[in-house]
Amino acid sequence: MLQLQGEANVQSTLERVTLKPLLKKNIAHIFSQLDYPALGKIYCDEGGEEFWQDRRGPCQQLGMRIAAHLEQNLPSKGRSLYVGAGVAELPMLMVETADLNRSVEPYNLRNDEVFILNTACTDLPLTFQATNALEAQGRFDHIWMVSILNDPECYPEASALSYGRATPATFDADAFKNEQRTLRNLLDSCLSKLTLPGLVTTSVEEIPWITTWCLEKGVPFAIDRKTFPTAIVGDPVCFIKLGPNS
Ligand SMILES: C[S@@+](CC[C@H](N)C(=O)[O-])C[C@H]1O[C@@H](n2cnc3c(N)ncnc32)[C@H](O)[C@@H]1O
Repeated sequence: MLQLQGEANVQSTLERVTLKPLLKKNIAHIFSQLDYPALGKIYCDEGGEEFWQDRRGPCQQLGMRIAAHLEQNLPSKGRSLYVGAGVAELPMLMVETADLNRSVEPYNLRNDEVFILNTACTDLPLTFQATNALEAQGRFDHIWMVSILNDPECYPEASALSYGRATPATFDADAFKNEQRTLRNLLDSCLSKLTLPGLVTTSVEEIPWITTWCLEKGVPFAIDRKTFPTAIVGDPVCFIKLGPNS
């Protein structure tokens, strides 16, 4: 039932971008439309503008690499749920809608970021929703959940534990227990909506959440050994196939 593709210590892979030139141009155009001073205030306590000057290019380029991988691994005309999608997810969302003719539902709890993203994307067939991804309805054949279950803003204790920052002297076990319940609930709500076979895109740090859910539900899974670097949070991204023949 359980099959891991490749070794446990996955290697980072830099694949050649294969996106069509027009799509790359359109992605660059959307990135040029973003309100970086406002995004700076959302992403950083201070130094936000410098952060985006430095990260904007890598975010676009690394995003296009992951988007190119998705383009080759998702069927056309499916449906994707994006939990906690921000600037970093723009290339993937555009590839899915423009190249694969798929529909996408991106959720993000930061109202201000959702407003900025929707303003830049008014001419695209995608709308970010400033609501909890728990509210997503229907079925999806792809779930994107990258750097969510360890989000320091929403889940500080889970984040500290996940990134090895927790210390026994200060760790709030009761607060963590609440976060763990919230996260298990979120995960169950989202993964239960995945049609099988289906694909989950996540970060390497979040793999244990996904595999624990699969083992509890008796869902077979296979973790692709390829990983992709990211430019904002910095967590490497990986892909997990769920369902029969995984
Ligand atoms: C650390 S950021 C990661 C953003 C993006 N995925 C990236 O890699 O740059 C976490 C994001 O997840 C969102 N988030 C956390 N819990 C969520 C939930 N239950 N529903 C929707 N979004 C959520 C937060 O609002 C935030 O935008």
